Amino acid sequence: MKIKNTSLSKADLGKEVTLEGWVAKIRNFGAITFIDLRDRSGLIQLVYSKENIDIDLRNEYVIKARGTIRLRETPNPSLKTGEIEVDCKEIKVLSRAETTPLIIADETDALEDTRLKYRYLDLRRPSMQRNLDIRNKIKMATHKYLNANDFIEVETPILNLSTPEGARDYLVPSRTKKGSFYALPQSPQIFKQLLMIGGLERYYQIAKCFRDEDLRSDRQPEFTQIDIEVSFMDQDEILSLSEGLIKEIFKEAIDLDINTPFKRITYKEAIDKYGSDHPDTRFDLTLKDIKELMLTSSFEGFKKAESIKCIVVPKKASDTSRKVIDDLAAEGKKFLVDGVIVLKVNEAKEIEGSFTKFFTEALKKELIESLSLNPDDLVIISYGDKSRVSMFLGAKRVEYAKELKLYDESTFDLLWVVDFPLFEKDVEGNITSVHHPFTRPQEKDLDKLESDPFACLSYSYDLIINGYEVGGGSLRIYDQEVQNRVFKVLGLTDEDIRRKFGFFVDAFKYGTPPHGGLAFGLDRLTMLLSGTNNIRDVIAFPKNLNASCMMSGAPTPVDKDQLDELGIQIKKGE
Ligand code: AMO
Repeated sequence: MKIKNTSLSKADLGKEVTLEGWVAKIRNFGAITFIDLRDRSGLIQLVYSKENIDIDLRNEYVIKARGTIRLRETPNPSLKTGEIEVDCKEIKVLSRAETTPLIIADETDALEDTRLKYRYLDLRRPSMQRNLDIRNKIKMATHKYLNANDFIEVETPILNLSTPEGARDYLVPSRTKKGSFYALPQSPQIFKQLLMIGGLERYYQIAKCFRDEDLRSDRQPEFTQIDIEVSFMDQDEILSLSEGLIKEIFKEAIDLDINTPFKRITYKEAIDKYGSDHPDTRFDLTLKDIKELMLTSSFEGFKKAESIKCIVVPKKASDTSRKVIDDLAAEGKKFLVDGVIVLKVNEAKEIEGSFTKFFTEALKKELIESLSLNPDDLVIISYGDKSRVSMFLGAKRVEYAKELKLYDESTFDLLWVVDFPLFEKDVEGNITSVHHPFTRPQEKDLDKLESDPFACLSYSYDLIINGYEVGGGSLRIYDQEVQNRVFKVLGLTDEDIRRKFGFFVDAFKYGTPPHGGLAFGLDRLTMLLSGTNNIRDVIAFPKNLNASCMMSGAPTPVDKDQLDELGIQIKKGE
């Protein structure tokens, strides 16, 4: 069996070993040559003399070397095996390598496109192997914890009817039923609920999910969830069980003890204070509501604003130029706020800026006091539609905190956002579910379901780590009457319901346990625990931002025969 490079130490001095791996580095001193041999565990130094071994080696050759462990003359403390080396008697080339298109080391200057094109080489880099190792440990911790808590893993179908997460589906044409399509699952949502009706009580699955949406550094079209569903548990029990899982994952994957229970804030507080439903609370810089105060100014623009809020950025006024202020206003427009006003506090602790002509002296004083302003503070005010103002200032808050290094990047900030509204308006202004149509309304709001739907809260929760939404879920409706009322509020006709969820709704007729669950994004969790902010760094073969695989070229056109078999014709010019 192959010996791991890093399993060798001073305890093995004098031992003869045979090692296999890749040539990571060659240092040739004429008569004597040093090689760093790399395997998944790490590096070890090999030495050979030209006199004994006549061989032509190059980087990334795969070799087999036989020799004796001895002490190194100059130890290398940065290597695990830095005190020893292998004095080689024989080296055999198992496989040659051409010059690689990227440097196989943590410090590579290769562009991401090159790394993705030659992913199999990129995967040889120690940092990539570390990330995949953390990913594996998270999965192992999940299996261990959930099995110890009486869960069973059940696989659910990939070829599906469309699921209700609300993103665009990936469709798969059917050959046997021409003109019909399967949808790849956006999550196992419907099936995991059916498993509860099926009496499984505690289900989990490390599940592949597919969503055809705009990609970002924390989003992939194909990603993995740690998906969980339980029966007969209330919200607190589900959150506490999940905290136990996350605690175990941190311990097993990066040996970090985290405290439970996690903080909990309501959705309303998250939006009001942080301008985001996935707030980073490692730093303060909160949004302040100054509507009442600002309405005492003579500025007409404030009069019809639904919301007037600000953030106070410390020690930023003096290095904020006119251009930056103009840029802030332009950015505000993109967020569709009515306006952005920037005030500066000078050394004498007075508010400056042309806008102060709308303020009385008393108002200026009140502003300084109520916001506890200090010299050199920058005050960014935004007004207009409530949610747009919050979103704009929420985004600015994060940017300034990053720029001003207002937090320690190595810490983890975990919290639950709870009490999400049941419904929201989509971009076209139509009513839609915040999570999905099976989310249970809070009992106290049931009588408002039809009369004031946007005021109804749901039993739902998201786990946020360092400002990333890492997981989310809800209690589900198990009462058919409530489910029908929710469908009706969403404007679904009986025909819609039958067509979209008919089989699912039918299942509820035969005895449905109260149930709920949640799903964690395995990729996002791994990204945070690996200390990267690029989700592609924790997936062996990811897609680029265009949802293409740089290595294989997928997606690609297919043969006409294949299309004919499926009864599909491609429209010309598309
Ligand atoms: P949700 O849609 O909130 O809930 O997804 C759960 C978690 O999955 C991760 N995630 C993603 N990760 C990478 N790329 C993506 N495109 C992507 N989309 C989502 C996030 C998110 O928090 N069925 C429900 C869960 C439930 O109610 O039980 C669901 O899928 O980390």
